[in-house]
Amino acid sequence: MRPFALERYLAQHEFSVRHLACASDPDTLRVHDVLALEPTARDRLLTLSLGYTETKGSLDLREAIAALYKGVSAADVLVHVGAEEPIFTFFKATLSPGDHVIALTPTYQSLTSVAESLGASVSRWDAREADGWQPDPSELARLVTPATKVLVLNTPQNPTGGLLSPDRFAAVCDFAASRGLRLLGDEVYRGLEHGGPRLPSVVEVDERAVSLGAMAKVYGLAGLRIGWAVSRDRAHLARLEAVKDFLSICAPAPSELLATVALHHAELLRARTLSTVRANLAAVDALLQRFPGTLSWTRPVAGTTGFLRVHGESARAFSERLLAGTGVLLAPSTLFDWPDTHLRIGLGRGALPEALAALSAWLERA
Ligand SMILES: Cc1ncc(COP(=O)(O)O)c(C=O)c1O
Repeated sequence: MRPFALERYLAQHEFSVRHLACASDPDTLRVHDVLALEPTARDRLLTLSLGYTETKGSLDLREAIAALYKGVSAADVLVHVGAEEPIFTFFKATLSPGDHVIALTPTYQSLTSVAESLGASVSRWDAREADGWQPDPSELARLVTPATKVLVLNTPQNPTGGLLSPDRFAAVCDFAASRGLRLLGDEVYRGLEHGGPRLPSVVEVDERAVSLGAMAKVYGLAGLRIGWAVSRDRAHLARLEAVKDFLSICAPAPSELLATVALHHAELLRARTLSTVRANLAAVDALLQRFPGTLSWTRPVAGTTGFLRVHGESARAFSERLLAGTGVLLAPSTLFDWPDTHLRIGLGRGALPEALAALSAWLERA
């Protein structure tokens, strides 16, 4: 498989840099914080047995996940380890060598690389910054081939913070249905709309579609490593489950329990993440106003990340100089198979203003 550029970059720097300013997961909670959400949670954790769990996921957890969607029940949910795992189970269960995939880009690399590693070809469907990071649905007719099996939608989009407009989302769903394409909706940032409306999940509009979600981004619980695939096409979900037997088999019991408790308080945790993101959006706006000739952005509208445009220098060179001069880590766009023009910034950490202060002082000295 092609190395996962962003994960390799984070593995090198994430736990050693002074200012981690490109993380896509928000500030996390402690075990104690999750247990404090429900009076019986502590006892349930302490008396939990540490055997294997159900491959599908515990019924309690699947019910809590199903409640996040309209028209979905626990039987339509397959718990995984993170959202990374169902990207693999989905493509392995869905694609054969020679198949073709269309993917909204730029995006999280596994959404294209896993498909390619299975012998499929992937056509990029680029969001356009000049159009508020919207892609053009009329391009789909040109991209589709008789071999196209899957259309991948990561909306809200990592890294741009873009969100498909409701009419374009509807157009994409109609297109997929009319061509018999299976929609994969990577919706791990769904619920983090900064002000505008929330789109329906793909599983709410298309019976064959598969939606991916996770505890990491909306709820600040990346380390639980709990994610899921949801689909009303239970026969297809069973195919993902058969692949999962060769991967994690089942999720860890303590993580399932803590994720269940957290999802009973989903709104509270979502609001907590959003309030940090909103404060950071304003802080980044203020910085960009001071240095308009150096950095700019098409303001993100959803999710926990934004894509800053670097003017007058390659993004990679800028990020290297910045890291050496200040210890601030931003993620250059080449890590997202995108031209060397942008930097991903993470908006979910309360400490971001400290990184912005270091960046600002550095730019002033330059
Ligand atoms: C779009 C997208 N999908 C999936 C994942 C993987 O999520 P998890 O950490 O739950 O495995 C990420 C993580 O950054 C992501 O941004």
